[in-house]
Amino acid sequence: MCGIVGAVASRPVQEILLEGLRRLEYRGYDSAGVALQTEKGIQRCRRTGKVQALADALHDQPLQGKTGIAHTRWATHGVPNEANAHPHMSADQLAVVHNGIIENFEELKQELQAQGYEFSSDTDTEVIAHLLARELNKVSSLHTAVANIIGQLEGAYALGVIEKSDPSQLVTARKGSPLVIGVGMGENFIASDQLALLQVTDRFMFLEDGDVATLTAEQIIVTDINGAKAERKVSQFEHGVSAADKGEYKHFMLKEIYEQPEVISACLEGRISGDKLLEQCFGARAASIFDQVKQVQIIACGTSFHAGLIAKYWIEELVGIPCMVEVASEYRYRTVVIPQGTLFLTISQSGETADTLAALREVQSRVLASLVICNVPGSSLVRESDLALMTNAGPEIGVASTKAFTTQLTALMLTTIALGRRHNLDAQTEATIISALRKLPQQVEQALAMDADIEQMAGAFAEKHHTLFLGRGTLYPVAKEGALKLKEISYIHAECYPAGELKHGPLALVDKDMPVVAVAPQNDMLDKLKANLQEVRARGGELFVFAGSDRVQAEEGTYVLTMPECEEIMQPVLYTIPLQLLSYHVAVLKGTDVDQPRNLAKSVTVE
Ligand code: G6P
Repeated sequence: MCGIVGAVASRPVQEILLEGLRRLEYRGYDSAGVALQTEKGIQRCRRTGKVQALADALHDQPLQGKTGIAHTRWATHGVPNEANAHPHMSADQLAVVHNGIIENFEELKQELQAQGYEFSSDTDTEVIAHLLARELNKVSSLHTAVANIIGQLEGAYALGVIEKSDPSQLVTARKGSPLVIGVGMGENFIASDQLALLQVTDRFMFLEDGDVATLTAEQIIVTDINGAKAERKVSQFEHGVSAADKGEYKHFMLKEIYEQPEVISACLEGRISGDKLLEQCFGARAASIFDQVKQVQIIACGTSFHAGLIAKYWIEELVGIPCMVEVASEYRYRTVVIPQGTLFLTISQSGETADTLAALREVQSRVLASLVICNVPGSSLVRESDLALMTNAGPEIGVASTKAFTTQLTALMLTTIALGRRHNLDAQTEATIISALRKLPQQVEQALAMDADIEQMAGAFAEKHHTLFLGRGTLYPVAKEGALKLKEISYIHAECYPAGELKHGPLALVDKDMPVVAVAPQNDMLDKLKANLQEVRARGGELFVFAGSDRVQAEEGTYVLTMPECEEIMQPVLYTIPLQLLSYHVAVLKGTDVDQPRNLAKSVTVE
């Protein structure tokens, strides 16, 4: 999704802006641009493709200035070309970068065109530039102009604006799209997330919806949605700066896969004691809310949705109350029946996914309470939910989610315990689960030790065009997540079915050119699953099985990798690891852009 960076300083900012854009590359984008206040007025440079193309252009013709804005664009309105790339300008007077979508831009555009404003792009953003220029005929302050026009914008926005007559200021505003202010020493910044600015500061201010802020090198003035002066707290970035570097790893994704033992421990830290969950980790209000929960509605997107599917098995089995799971993009638009006592549980790595946030806002007033399982402190979902449990995975840069997923599962198991205590879960089962959670980091470590074997297995996939993933029970969503990983980063078509459904359609696809991946731990479903795998072999399909016992035998056409031992309840976490490694190695063999796969974005902040 689009990324914004802005800086106002007493030193040249071109390189700061470029570095910020590089750090936002993980969000996904298709063009990039900057605009700076120079001696010759506002000058801009835009390029399609990678930030490096922009950096090369600026290397040849640098822009000198101490105030500027920059942007990576992920096309929504208009194709990815230079004319549609941000910043957008109104004549040479002002420049704007925008993340979000202005839903009423067509009406606004017609009105502005009728008044003589000329448009040079197909974007919704350009209307903001012209609206501001028009407003500046009436008011002299850029801050007031921004505050006045945002009322006309329907939709979501995070904005950065510079205006020619005052090169010492940058004005920003947000509603529904992420934006942070980086607070420096004699310089200040804006960005779509904190990672973009860790090179220059580790202190951040979060704006509320409807806020407008003016930044100069020395100060930050914020007004709220009513135009009143507002104080916004400054907080310190919580993770080490190194969390955002690749270190010795070739890709962020691989680094993040390998971080899983450590971050699962971090997710458990301070939340379990002896053989018990410390329920206070959900916040002071949690106990009285959990007492009233009669069912759970889980809403999420992408990988986070898969975590929700697994939690459904856990909640219905261990708590004994109903649990529904749905993707946010469907739920938010249909008529939903919300039974009394519903805990509305959102799961989100970023805390900014537009559909998930919209679903929360849609039902907030009709549910018992909302809880978010999230990885980004201060994000919109965290701020707007009644309760939050942070996953503590640290920054996840690879677009394909890995450590965020396994820590979500860890946090969801803690949630299951908290709810289960009030229903079917006795102290002994709680102790067994806590003990299983404690062993998990080490077991994940052992699964990571299978890397070399998995790398070898990857060779069988690199030339294939289609694959099928199978699992049963909680391992079905794990297989779904494995298929998603493979298609996201290797661009190989990967389907997933609950193995019992094979004979209802997918068997027709099976032949020697369609490798079939199965997750087959030792559990009650193993015999059923083995029968399903026989159905595949009988049709000449090649099997790649991650198995938990010696009851799945390797033979011609069946490749078996034996997984480390683990408690049944934790199998979904452990069996995720080899599937992550498999997709990673297949993608490396195919030479794709592992950390920034084509057409995808890390944080989908527009619909
Ligand atoms: C995008 C990302 C996925 C992620 C999904 C949901 O599609 O590429 O990795 O699972 O959004 O994001 P969230 O931040 O809400 O978990």
